Amino acid sequence: MRAVLIFAALAASALAVAAPAGAAPGTPKDPLAAYGFHLYGQYCLACHGTNAAGRYKEPSSASGAGPGRAQGQQGGIGPSLQGVGALAADFYLRTGYMPLRHIGLQPRRRRVFLSEHQIRAIVAYIATFGGPPIPTPRPDLGNLSQGQALFTEHCAGCHQVLAQGGYVTGALPPALVLATPRQVAQAVRIGPYVMPTFSTRSISDRQLDSIVRYVEFTKNPTRPGGWGLGYIGPVPEGLVTWFLAIPALLVLCLILGRRLRS
Ligand code: HEC
Ligand code: HEC
Repeated sequence: MRAVLIFAALAASALAVAAPAGAAPGTPKDPLAAYGFHLYGQYCLACHGTNAAGRYKEPSSASGAGPGRAQGQQGGIGPSLQGVGALAADFYLRTGYMPLRHIGLQPRRRRVFLSEHQIRAIVAYIATFGGPPIPTPRPDLGNLSQGQALFTEHCAGCHQVLAQGGYVTGALPPALVLATPRQVAQAVRIGPYVMPTFSTRSISDRQLDSIVRYVEFTKNPTRPGGWGLGYIGPVPEGLVTWFLAIPALLVLCLILGRRLRS
């Protein structure tokens, strides 16, 4: 008898725990967010789950959003979007990273097929679950040389010192030419895919302004040294040495040699 009671109590508590997750998703009252709720059902629900709570292969791996949410590590389908806020939703939708075509892909920049109104609506819906707002960086308040130093320290290892993009295991850090100042500020706080998340403790908002200013500068750098060669560093510079400089010197030697002989 006692076992039955304990079982009943356990079952009841399990139900109580399960209830919030299983509750029917409510349509938000705000009309824009309500429209977003419908669009979410169409484009996002399959991966991010009911109430944006995420979908995971095993319930135990429900780690939610955060730096450890790379698809391989999370063992899931789509991370929870509760608490990622308008900041992340706006970034992922305006870059075309989301909706992802299928799981297992690195989110990449793609043509955005959602309209401005649809993006605002989905962002409003995700924001009903809390989280940070869309940031507005002020690169004009930043300092270019501080920005360069911070970028070299925190970002260049992956994105290359002039933000031309690079390679890391399992992902391609993109060139940052297409990232708007706002998207740079968003990416730094989100840490999309394998990129680390930088909190305001490691990079303050003012330092972020400097980084944004530096990234803007890399889109149009001054060229004191002449030919920039795409600013991707030693490989093209080496190629110029081998295929232009060395042949030119050889030709020069031949011409000089012929002149001295005659
Ligand atoms: C460990 C490598 C790594 C580091 C360090 C890193 N990133 Fe990234 N970053 C990435 C990867 C990979 C992506 C692509 C993310 C994706 O596809 O979801 C990315 C994406 C971005 C984007 C979006 C670009 C676009 O147009 O799609 C911006 C902006 C960005 N990073 C800025 C920064 C800044 C600024 C820093 C330094 C504060 C930084 N990153 C540090 C790897 C890194
Ligand atoms: C095919 C599955 C799939 C679909 C469809 C999809 N997503 Fe995602 N989404 C993912 C995965 C996987 C990640 C984790 C990627 C990463 O780490 O950058 C993700 C990440 C995100 C993030 C970042 C979460 C964070 O922690 O910062 C946001 C925001 C997001 N998705 C929004 C959306 C929205 C909005 C839609 C619908 C328009 C959508 N996604 C459709 C699979 C999907």
